[in-house]
Amino acid sequence: MSNSQNSLHTVSVIGTGAYLPEKVVTNDDLAKVVDTNDEWIFSRTGMRERRIAREDQATSDLAAEAAKAALRDAGVSADEVDLLIVATLSPDMFFPSTACFVQEKIGAKNAYCYDLGAACSGSLFAIETAKNQIACGVVKTALVIGAEKMSTFLNWEDRGTCVLFGDGAGSVVLQATGAEHGIMKGTFGSDGSMAHLLQTPGGGSRNPMTHEMLNRKEQYLTMGGRDVYKHAVKQMTQSVQDALELNSLTSDEIKCFVAHQANARIIEAIGMRLDVMDRMFMNVEKYANTSAAALMIAVDEVVKSGDVKQGDLILLVAFGGGFTWGATVVEWTKGTA
Ligand code: ACO
Repeated sequence: MSNSQNSLHTVSVIGTGAYLPEKVVTNDDLAKVVDTNDEWIFSRTGMRERRIAREDQATSDLAAEAAKAALRDAGVSADEVDLLIVATLSPDMFFPSTACFVQEKIGAKNAYCYDLGAACSGSLFAIETAKNQIACGVVKTALVIGAEKMSTFLNWEDRGTCVLFGDGAGSVVLQATGAEHGIMKGTFGSDGSMAHLLQTPGGGSRNPMTHEMLNRKEQYLTMGGRDVYKHAVKQMTQSVQDALELNSLTSDEIKCFVAHQANARIIEAIGMRLDVMDRMFMNVEKYANTSAAALMIAVDEVVKSGDVKQGDLILLVAFGGGFTWGATVVEWTKGTA
């Protein structure tokens, strides 16, 4: 486990944005495709519906819309962006990076661009990466996007996985500000020995794209649901405690806890263990699990809800394939000179 160091400059989130595809797919809709029902899905996951992107939309299209919304919110033009990171596990292609496609789509011609792969924790890792580059003076303005077209990578014949995910994108703009804290210290970790529990096993160099691989449907996401559940609850609970301790905070000082929106039962279990259920944000009912996009979409909803005021602290916590995990405290500083 590594902990981020003190920043040279305070770095803040100065704008947020999100994009959700128009098409809503309900649990009842899924029951027409696989042997499932609304009661099973809702009681185990808290999900009622999810958004599914159009066939002609790639992950970069979702990302570009979220990015434009975040830039508008920040009052920053695309050509001011120095660094553009897309966190995704459903890239447009293996290469070039989805970030380069987004650059072209939004006109961020002065940015250097790359993707970051840490599954559902990706956008949290990307925020930390961007924060540190701003703090060290490498870049001035960073655009971080979490974007997923999960629907492309799901086996629509596997009821155990296809009901759990959705498509979408969220984005934040980061800059150094005169705020007191901004993005505070974070805690991050990974455990590669658990990789088999959550992965897309086929299509890469280990298990290349062959007819046999495709027939085995290994190009789709697989998951050991119960094990993932246990580890996600345990690790995200621990990460919240670690982040609070690192920043010498108590849970009472946090206005809102925003966890990766994997599953309502996971979020509730964390909220109960930490006795903060009244402040746990949840939108998994509407969008299901949008992987790296989920945290960014949630942050956008939280700050746009009006419940979070300047100076309030938001705690972000994520967990995903790898396994990967982390937690960061963000002082909401929008409006600070
Ligand atoms: N509809 C109806 N029945 C289903 C469905 C479905 N969509 N999916 C599975 N079932 C059946 C199974 O076939 C099984 O039937 P059987 O007993 O006859 O064999 C039964 O339901 C129980 O299956 P389990 O997988 O044991 O169900 P469980 O209670 O563990 O719930 C779930 C499954 C919801 C996936 C749970 O394990 C979970 O929440 N895991 C966390 C996984 C997660 O959130 N992953 C997201 C990615 S990770 C991340 O983002 C952090």
